[in-house]
Amino acid sequence: MRAPAIRRLCLAAGSLLSVVLAAGIGSAGPDGGPIRIGVAGPMDGDQGKMGQDILNGARLAIDECNGRGGVLGRRIEIVEGNDQHDPRQARQVADRFLDAEVVGVIGHFNSDCSIPASDVYAEEGVVQITPASTNPRFTDRGLDTVFRVCGRDDQQGRVAADFVVDVLGKRRVAVLHDRTTYGQGLADAFAVRLRERGVEPVAEEGIVQGEQDYRAVLGSVKPHNPEVLFFGGIYREGGLIARQAREQGLAATFLSGDGVIDQTFVEIAGIEAAEGSCFTFTPDVRNMPSAAETVRTYESRFGELGPYSIYGYVAAQVMLEGIRRAGGVDGLAVAHVLREGTYETVLGPLSFDDKGDTRSAPYVVYVTRGGKFVQHTGLDGRPLAGP
Ligand code: ALA
Repeated sequence: MRAPAIRRLCLAAGSLLSVVLAAGIGSAGPDGGPIRIGVAGPMDGDQGKMGQDILNGARLAIDECNGRGGVLGRRIEIVEGNDQHDPRQARQVADRFLDAEVVGVIGHFNSDCSIPASDVYAEEGVVQITPASTNPRFTDRGLDTVFRVCGRDDQQGRVAADFVVDVLGKRRVAVLHDRTTYGQGLADAFAVRLRERGVEPVAEEGIVQGEQDYRAVLGSVKPHNPEVLFFGGIYREGGLIARQAREQGLAATFLSGDGVIDQTFVEIAGIEAAEGSCFTFTPDVRNMPSAAETVRTYESRFGELGPYSIYGYVAAQVMLEGIRRAGGVDGLAVAHVLREGTYETVLGPLSFDDKGDTRSAPYVVYVTRGGKFVQHTGLDGRPLAGP
């Protein structure tokens, strides 16, 4: 059981000082001075690019807001939290955010981190908007303070399975996952929908994150002659599996989700092994006129857009507008206004349902061509018309 909030604040007094000093910020808090927003994710290591993408997106939105005078006459400050995609570190980040008196949190990236951290934020009434955590349990537990601007794995898994059946027309499907809340959850959602469509996976196996060599599991899958190799997990392991599958002569189409669709996957897999691999993700923001200026500004400042860069931006946009509409930084008041009305974002109008899920989370399928991810299906699940 967790320590009551007030006790935890006393226990954590030492880290309070270090966070505030490390952030280089002076006196602030809920009632005066700058408004602090925590931005959390894996900021370094094998998934560090994802945390940095989200941080850059949030930073852009917050800098633009400060350029317009801030919110309610107050400047916005970011407090960074590096959870290193570890659930225990995520809880520590959450505790440090509370010590630093953040009034809202953008994050985390991994469901494995967002879910345990959400209990800490909920206990203190701090609004959390995840740009990227897609596991249904994040919003299915009835917490008032959780929101997500991305979709859910029950939606994503369904689109992936329907793509296998309706577009690829394949029936021999092997399912791998990294045993995380996200990876296994997505693999399960995919397998559930496959079975609904009359396809029984030929194999279902878990792998261990962080290893270099996945040939043993691929060797156990190969005799089943899969035509599709689905992977629930993140790009590092996805890239290694795609490459080692090719090296072992497995010709199956590699299929995965939002955790793998990043250029780092191509770098790890190599262009040849990546060719033809497929991914579920939301429609290409580069084709959205509403996002064009933000994409341009982002890329001129931070370099190539990552899959969740714009979602970090949108989460910040929504958070700041929620604070403005609530007329203050009380977390439950902000949570209340977020569940009401519509928020104009660079991805178009966004509204949340009672759980805190966005009402618009469309998934489409991308195919990798020459090392680039090309949107292949539309919102109806059918291949887009070719050039
Ligand atoms: N969508 C991935 C997760 O939920 C990043 O962990």
